[in-house]
Amino acid sequence: MHHSGSRSAIKELLAATAVRSNVRVCGWVRSLRRGKDVAFIALNDGSCLGTLQIVVAAELLQISEMITLGTGACIEVRGDLVESPAAGQSWEMQASQVALMGGVDGDYPLQKKRHSFEYLRSIAHLRPRANTFGAVFRMRSALSFAVHRFFHERGFLYVHTPIVTTNDCEGAGEMFRVTTLDPLCAPRVDDRVDWSQDFFGEKAGLTVSGQLQGELFAMAFSDIYTFGPTFRAENSNTSRHASEFWMIEPEMAFVDLAGNCRVAEEFFRYLVVYVLSRCREDLEFFDQRIEPGLIDRLEKLSQAEFHRVTYSEAIDLLEKSERAFEFPVAWGHDLQSEHERYLTEEVFAGPVFVTDYPEQIKAFYMRMNDDHRTVAAMDLLVPRVGEIIGGSQREERLEVLEQRMQAHGIDPDSLNWYLDTRRWGSCPHSGFGLGFERLLMYLTGMENIRDVIPFPRTPGHARF
Ligand code: 4AD
Ligand code: MG
Repeated sequence: MHHSGSRSAIKELLAATAVRSNVRVCGWVRSLRRGKDVAFIALNDGSCLGTLQIVVAAELLQISEMITLGTGACIEVRGDLVESPAAGQSWEMQASQVALMGGVDGDYPLQKKRHSFEYLRSIAHLRPRANTFGAVFRMRSALSFAVHRFFHERGFLYVHTPIVTTNDCEGAGEMFRVTTLDPLCAPRVDDRVDWSQDFFGEKAGLTVSGQLQGELFAMAFSDIYTFGPTFRAENSNTSRHASEFWMIEPEMAFVDLAGNCRVAEEFFRYLVVYVLSRCREDLEFFDQRIEPGLIDRLEKLSQAEFHRVTYSEAIDLLEKSERAFEFPVAWGHDLQSEHERYLTEEVFAGPVFVTDYPEQIKAFYMRMNDDHRTVAAMDLLVPRVGEIIGGSQREERLEVLEQRMQAHGIDPDSLNWYLDTRRWGSCPHSGFGLGFERLLMYLTGMENIRDVIPFPRTPGHARF
């Protein structure tokens, strides 16, 4: 009986416009109240935040099953959807049949009280059943779809760039090694590992960015994007860094830095408007429980224009501030997150693009400006999260690119395929990377990146 007949999603039943007879629902018990002759079950199946109240006559419940029917149990119910006499809900279900699929013992860790997010991380296998995580992961799924829709509507080609790669795009040395060599007896030449005997015949790792391969495709298809997992072995244990995260990287031929910022802004706004209209119930939950004022903030954001400031202007603003920063402010040093937050939270009180950074603090592929000191880079900073997008116009001039590679200690021969695109049919092009988890943090109000990714990977943690 368990798998026969069609199942109605609770979301659909709660939105019903008329009574319905003989429906079948399945889900997990959120709470159970036993009266003398009836029991009330709040049932959730993940299709929405809400629960459906199931009214069960006591004689329908088998004595043997009663013992393990409690919060967390999985049940299948058949019955009629009727108007609810209770306040605060339109519909309830009068059960005619209840079957216990999976009972629970008394130690079910997700009892109805509030748990800390730290504790819930330790039970990441069960936390998808908690309200907050239901809302987070429904929104994550909806937003993934919105990302594809945005680019699809604009004719961008979706490219699957490789996960295993031999290039460290950002040049920051944060790649996880992929090898089949035995660490205890790896082949050596002199006192070094001989990677030529490894599986791929050279040192390989997990991608830190699909950008370089994305550029190759942009120089054939004009507008492309990637959306996939990204890995960084940086040992930063912050609430904004994960070792495995998802990134969206559009790359556009014939677009300069200003055009790049415009697309980023349009994209960002599109995603905000999308969740405001499609994820209302979950947003209301975040507004009430996670970040008061969230919906209002997002509504303003969907109207506001993003600010733009150059790195040099930003340094001036920071130097003029009365603030005692932990890290010194000086032209030529990268902005630390305290600086970024001051700019976006206090100076601009909203999203701001910082552009044209000193060339020595940015990756080799960014286009050299005419001042020969800065590159056509852009970072989008937003309140609370800090950097959410990083991008640039790319260096399309072969000689300048080779010079920058040398200056950054990158052997041009190791990226000869990348340089080939500058030899044959080079063109101005730009792109950016949006960190998907940081976007989710910004749109939900969740404060830790570990709580917006299903199974977070961070230094010391790869359980589940
Ligand atoms: O600024 P990043 O390093 O830029 C790039 O990777 C470029 N190749 C993008 C491009 O131009 N195509 O990273 C882009 C974004 C950051 O702004 C941030 O949102 C996110 O990726 N990000 C991380 N998110 C979570 N955990 C980490 N460790 C992250 N590192 C970067
Ligand atoms: Mg960056």
